[in-house]
Amino acid sequence: MSAPQRGTPTAPLTVGVVGAGRVGTVLGAALAAAGHRIVAVSARSARSRARAARMLPGVPVLPPAHTARAVGTGVLLLTVPDDALAPLVDELVAAGGVAPGQVAVHTSGAHGATVLRAAAEVGAGTVALHPAMTFTGRPSDLDRLPGVSYGASAPDRLRPLVTRLVADLQGVVEWVHESDRLLYHAALAHGANHLVTLVNDAADGLRAAGVREPRRLLAPLLRAALDNALGLGDDALTGPVARGDAGTVAGHLSRLAGDHPDWLETYRALARRSVVRAVAAGRLDPRAAGRLLDVLAGTGPGAAAEAATAEVATAEVATPDLDTAAPDAAPVSAGGAQVPATAGRPWRAAR
Ligand SMILES: NC(=O)c1ccc[n+]([C@@H]2O[C@H](COP(=O)([O-])OP(=O)(O)OC[C@H]3O[C@@H](n4cnc5c(N)ncnc54)[C@H](OP(=O)(O)O)[C@@H]3O)[C@@H](O)[C@H]2O)c1
Repeated sequence: MSAPQRGTPTAPLTVGVVGAGRVGTVLGAALAAAGHRIVAVSARSARSRARAARMLPGVPVLPPAHTARAVGTGVLLLTVPDDALAPLVDELVAAGGVAPGQVAVHTSGAHGATVLRAAAEVGAGTVALHPAMTFTGRPSDLDRLPGVSYGASAPDRLRPLVTRLVADLQGVVEWVHESDRLLYHAALAHGANHLVTLVNDAADGLRAAGVREPRRLLAPLLRAALDNALGLGDDALTGPVARGDAGTVAGHLSRLAGDHPDWLETYRALARRSVVRAVAAGRLDPRAAGRLLDVLAGTGPGAAAEAATAEVATAEVATPDLDTAAPDAAPVSAGGAQVPATAGRPWRAAR
């Protein structure tokens, strides 16, 4: 098994892991490889016990409260499902497992540190430390840890500890305000989880169109699109929306209605969102945007463009530098309705 080796601390931390799941065993193994002392792990099911034996060989497997007690004033990793966190902490506190000076760390993206408030009430420090990565609980996960960002919420006094833990995991800290955790996590779910659904819907559509190896066909295209989106932002958009080809989009909708009504509405919603972003980024002629929005709404000319005016006007789009500018960013009339201007930005023709 390979593991991060950098950042071995001079004074190792004492660490316990409650929840020998996909994340707990991998972070435990990585912290052990960085020189910290993993004193106990809790694992209830046979699957979790097998994972603990594979990833944390030789570490005593103890019940949760015993694991917490073994940590003393060290770091208690709580890597259980999100909904189990609050009841688990109540249980650990009631059993006397949480000590003043101990630092309880959970890895949920959606929760801030306050979900551990029962531990804080008995004098423990509390931290939310979410690795923005997908874990399977296998040794290969360790290879993906370098460079991972951790969405962290912690009181100021614990920030040096969090910074040290993340450095030892070879990661990068992103401080997330407690009140922004749900937005942070929704954004990650939208980007990463919905991407999986999108890719699988696309593969199904290709298969239905007679493509024998949809994933092979998609791989280079989607990798390029992802790289471009990460590097260029809205400038990466190509295809019929970016070109203003309303006729093509109308054709897509009509074919999907017959063949794939299951993802027709997803297509419509994402195409509409693409139009809105493209206009706000100055990538799409407002007249073409109006035609596209009408087609996507399935209404008469102009109706959808009017409905979308407010949406575009308030869109906050981070746009990379535009190297060329086309004239006329003013609102225009499309099918009788006002189509929004490009949020103050010039538009330019799509590739
Ligand atoms: N997997 C990911 O890709 C990922 C990525 C980033 C963050 N996270 C976050 O990391 C946390 C853990 O997720 P995961 O995917 O590692 O979950 P997981 O694989 O389902 O593992 C959860 C572990 O928690 C244990 N557990 C459940 N309820 C418990 C309780 N009441 N007391 C003690 N142990 C309990 C389970 O043990 P038994 O099997 O013995 O019941 C299991 O070992 C979650 O907050 C999740 O949001 C996950």
